[in-house]
Amino acid sequence: MRRLEREFWKAVEAVRDEAFRRRVESFLRKAFKRLEGEGLNFFEAPAGRSQHHAYAGGLVQHTLSMLKIALAMVENLARHYGFKRVNRDYVIAGALLHDLYKPLTYRVRENGSYEFSKLGSRLDHLTMLVADAGKAGFPLDFLHVLAASHGEWGPMPPRTLEALIVHLADLADSRFAGQIGRAAQNVLKGRGKPVPSTLTVKEALKIIVEDEA
Ligand SMILES: [Fe+2]
Ligand SMILES: [Fe+2]
Repeated sequence: MRRLEREFWKAVEAVRDEAFRRRVESFLRKAFKRLEGEGLNFFEAPAGRSQHHAYAGGLVQHTLSMLKIALAMVENLARHYGFKRVNRDYVIAGALLHDLYKPLTYRVRENGSYEFSKLGSRLDHLTMLVADAGKAGFPLDFLHVLAASHGEWGPMPPRTLEALIVHLADLADSRFAGQIGRAAQNVLKGRGKPVPSTLTVKEALKIIVEDEA
């Protein structure tokens, strides 16, 4: 099993409430099976077609990165503000599930780039996720975390702390990664070098520091 795949399942284990964790696990297993058959493997899928993490493996990289940002926010509320009443389980599971159905919306073109699948050109990943999570019996406040993960750009603005944290962590990680990519492209452009349309976050970071050196 690849490193990020192991890290993903480890994060599932960090959900403390046992009944909730079981529900999360079985939902994930069912979803992964469906993705294998209908779309792209979750661990090989991109997180976007062009904006951020638009390369194979980008989705799991984004998911785990935004989970870490979200947990840092939970930690900060507790340590800096003395506020300890955030449902950590909902934050963890919300992060892990928030983009779970994205691979259903993509198709790989022959040249390796991504385009919308037929399904993805008719339904967005959140709508499909919330519908299935509702059927799977998740609590309403957890469904809200998923439904509100796109913030003001989605069907529902965040109305709980858990939803707000998951949304902001998602936004922070995707914007940060997107802008790191564009900064690296600008560096290459400035040097008159060829500019690849997608760079991994790690490649982009390397280009930026080498320019600073
Ligand atoms: Fe999303
Ligand atoms: Fe996301």
